[in-house]
Amino acid sequence: MYLFINFKAYRESTSFSALNLIRTIESNFGNDERVKIVLNPLDSMIESSLDKYIQHADPFPAGPYTGFIPVELLPSYSYKGIMINHSEHRLERGIILKNVDEARKNGLKSMICAANLDEIKEFSSIKPDFIAYEPPELIGGNISVSDSKPEIILQAFNLLKGRGIELIVGAGVKNGRDVKKSIELGAKGVLVASGIVKSKEPITVIKDMINNLGD
Ligand code: G3P
Repeated sequence: MYLFINFKAYRESTSFSALNLIRTIESNFGNDERVKIVLNPLDSMIESSLDKYIQHADPFPAGPYTGFIPVELLPSYSYKGIMINHSEHRLERGIILKNVDEARKNGLKSMICAANLDEIKEFSSIKPDFIAYEPPELIGGNISVSDSKPEIILQAFNLLKGRGIELIVGAGVKNGRDVKKSIELGAKGVLVASGIVKSKEPITVIKDMINNLGD
C-alpha cells in the first residue's frame, strides 16, 4: 500500500519549505516504504530516505534540451519514479508512451494519471507501474474521490485486476476515513497534495492516513 504525497508547486512544499517538510516526514516515517514523495523538479537536489518521484519529466536522453527534464538524468538525482500526465500537466498520448518506455529503460517506476475510466482503459495498454485516477473537478477540494466516485474506483479496480498495474486514487483526500474507503474499494494507495502540504499539522494527517492504509 502507498501514500504518495504530491508537493505540487505550493509555497508550503517547495524550496526550503520542501526541505523542512521532507526532513519532518523522514523523522516520523523515514523507514516506512509506503510513503513516497512526489517533488517539484525545482527541488530535485534534495536527498531523502523516502522514495522520490518527480512530478513531470521529458522522454529525452541527457543533451541539448534547454529547459527540459530528461528522464535519463533522473537516477542521478536519486529519483525512483516519475509521474506522467497529471491533470495540471497534461501530455499527448505519444509522449506518455515514450515517458513510460524511458522510465523503464532507466530503472524508474512510472505512474500515469488518468481523469476518467476511458483514460484508465486507454493507459492500461501502455503498462505503467501505477495508474492514478484523479477526477480533475475534485482536485484541491474537500469532497474526496472515494466519497464522490466510489463506483469508478471499483470499476477501475476490476479493469486493472491481474494486469500488473497498481491502482492509486487521488483528489480531495483529506483524512484516514477517505484512505480507508479508497482501499476498501480496491485502490492500492492514495495520491494526496493539499490535505497534507496545506495542513497546519501534516504529520498528524499523515499518521491518520497511514493508520488506515494497511500493509
Ligand atoms: O496529485 C494529487 C492531486 O492532484 C490531488 O490534489 O489537493 O486534492 O489532494 P489534492
